[in-house]
Order: sequence, then C-alpha cells, then structure tokens
Amino acid sequence: MPTIVIASPKGGAGKTTAAVILATEFARAGASVTLLDCDPNHSATLWWSKGIRPSGIEVLSDVSDSTVVRTIKEHDRDGGVVICDLEGIASRLVSRAISQADLVLTPMRATTLDATIGIRTVALVQEEEEALDRPIRHAVFFTMTRAIRSRQHLGIQKSFAEQGIAIVNPPLMERAAYSALFQFGGDLHSMPAQGAMGNARENARLFAEAVFAQLVSTRETNNEQRQSIRHSGRSAKKEPQE
Ligand SMILES: Nc1ncnc2c1ncn2[C@@H]1O[C@H](COP(=O)(O)OP(=O)(O)OP(=O)(O)O)[C@@H](O)[C@H]1O
Ligand SMILES: [Mg+2]
Repeated sequence: MPTIVIASPKGGAGKTTAAVILATEFARAGASVTLLDCDPNHSATLWWSKGIRPSGIEVLSDVSDSTVVRTIKEHDRDGGVVICDLEGIASRLVSRAISQADLVLTPMRATTLDATIGIRTVALVQEEEEALDRPIRHAVFFTMTRAIRSRQHLGIQKSFAEQGIAIVNPPLMERAAYSALFQFGGDLHSMPAQGAMGNARENARLFAEAVFAQLVSTRETNNEQRQSIRHSGRSAKKEPQE
C-alpha cells in the first residue's frame, strides 16, 4: 500500500531513527512493513542485525539507484507499508525513491541551520512532481525536540505554517530509548528500559499515528483530484501545498 520515503540532504537529521520507529510502530499495529535500507552506510541494517527482530518487518539492504524503483513496486502490496531510508545527500537514488513515494517525510532539528538545509527536500519533491505530473505529498517533522520549545523552534514552525508546509505533530522528542534502538535492536517494547520509557513509547505511537493520518489525507486528496480530472477532462496538476 503506501510508500513512505524519509529524505533530507542533511546528514544526522534523524532519518534512520524515524524509519526504525515508524517500521516498528506500524508492525506493532499489525501492518506488514518492508524497510528499504538505501543508505550505503547501512544504519537500518545495523539496527536489524541486533536484538530480537520484531515480527511483521522485512529489511532489505543494498538498495541502489538501479534497483530502488523495482524494489518499491515489488513490495508495494495490500496491507503493507514500504519505508525507504536514504542517505543524507541529494542523489539520483534519492530522486528515484521520491518518485515512488505516497509521502515524503523530512526530519529536522528545530534550528535555523537544520531547517534551512532540510527544507531543500521540497525542491527535490517538486522536481519529481513536474517530471511525473502528479502531486507527491511532503511533510516535515521536528526531531530530537526538548520538552520546552525554544523561540527558534516556534519561529520555524510559524514560518513553515505560513509557507503552507505540512508539519507532523507531535514531533519526535529527544529520548535515550530512540538512540538505544541501535544498541539493542528490536523495538521500544523489547529493549531494556532506557530513561522515561513510557514517555518514549507513547511519543513513538502518537508520532506514527500522525504520520498515518498524513497518508490518509494523501489518499483523500488523490481521490478528489482523480474525480476533478474525470469531471474536467484535464490532466493532473500539482497539488497545492497545505
Ligand atoms: N529523537 C531522537 N532522540 C535521541 N537521539 C536521536 C533521535 N533522533 C536521532 N537521534 C540520534 O542522532 C544521531 C543521528 O540520527 P540518525 O542516524 O537517525 O540520522 P540520519 O539522518 O539517519 O543520519 P545519516 O544522514 O547519517 O543517515 C544518532 O546517533 C541517533 O541515535
Ligand atoms: Mg541514516
């Protein structure tokens, strides 16, 4: 079913952590998840190689620019979710993965520098929209967030809202349990307790639900668009950003 591509040209933005959290939360909710490790550094595969492997998840390593489109199409099946974890650069592989996405997610710390680099993903998404003549939904989310939001965080949030950039809410908080996923493998329920474990689990669950809500609204937008195309007889136009 849906393909979620996690992309940002900013290294260390929190892509793989979010990919693992979404994969484990969706699997826990009963979905069959395929996690594509498209990063030559193999961070997602490193997580997969440790601890108890959660059921309902398959991780495919070494997905390259020549195999990414085929691999996504092969695994895009009913009841399943494909999650694509990418390297922190702009590349042909990144563009090809974006071309197959139902939703592109960009993680960023709420700092001006990270937001400025992270938001360049929008240009990559727009290039694929133009090439394919179809809308590709894009949303950002803040990660490694602290309980008290800085003024910078609130300012960036306001600026994105004014530009019509979708923001996933809640953000992913900075939690010891999230970085420990790469130490212990498995999920937030199988690993030894780290810090405020209940809060980490709750935040991950709510975050995954918010991402799912973005996917549902994508489907509704696409259906509406298909209907308006049928009525007007015109070809698909770019979706106005929300
Ligand atoms: N919400 C979080 N709470 C605590 N630590 C986090 C969180 N998100 C990311 N980290 C830590 O920040 C570092 C970078 O995260 P991650 O590897 O997910 O980023 P990335 O965007 O995938 O990096 P790359 O561009 O190198 O692939 C890691 O050490 C990870 O454990
Ligand atoms: Mg990574």
